Amino acid sequence: MKHIFNKGKDSNKPTLLLLHGTGGNELDLLPIAGRIDDEASVLSVRGNVLENGMPRFFKRLAEGVFDEEDLILRTKELNQFLDEAVEMYDFDRDNIIAIGYSNGANIAASLLFHYQHALKGAILHHPMVPRRGMEIPDLSGKSVFIAAGTNDPICSPAESMELKSILEKTNVEVEMHWEDRGHQLTPGEVEAASKWYSNL
Ligand code: MLT
Repeated sequence: MKHIFNKGKDSNKPTLLLLHGTGGNELDLLPIAGRIDDEASVLSVRGNVLENGMPRFFKRLAEGVFDEEDLILRTKELNQFLDEAVEMYDFDRDNIIAIGYSNGANIAASLLFHYQHALKGAILHHPMVPRRGMEIPDLSGKSVFIAAGTNDPICSPAESMELKSILEKTNVEVEMHWEDRGHQLTPGEVEAASKWYSNL
């Protein structure tokens, strides 16, 4: 997968896996990674799917309606890419924290749903429930920060709460942060994510 890897100053820090929103690319979230931890290694990946020229991490049938078969396939592809990246860049496979926005947050949530050891934790900006009715592995020991908007037209508050409750049922420790805004990624939620990360 097309990506950037920036080796951090401190190899004991987690590796931050950056996953952009629809129409974005691997450069978008680099400033946010710097705000979360400027000493950590960063692996920033570009989604392999193109929707009218806009990169994404999996196909959708309509806004908010995911192509489930493609989601499963692309989640597997990203998880395998993480294995390859560990070989290439020699970082700790068990210490990856994803930072995803929108479509990127959705594939990060999908990694957690499908693979018990894919991520140690995640900062999810405006995620949805990636799949329903599936068996999710026990995710004890993992921590997730969710930032949601009370007026988000894409990820409704009810869906944000549903994701929180699904993750909690699989023993993830979830912190929820609300902004009185829409789908945009705000400086306030990055600040809150940074506080959450510093207490990990
Ligand atoms: C998605 O397709 O993943 C969500 O609708 C968010 C988006 O990318 O617009």
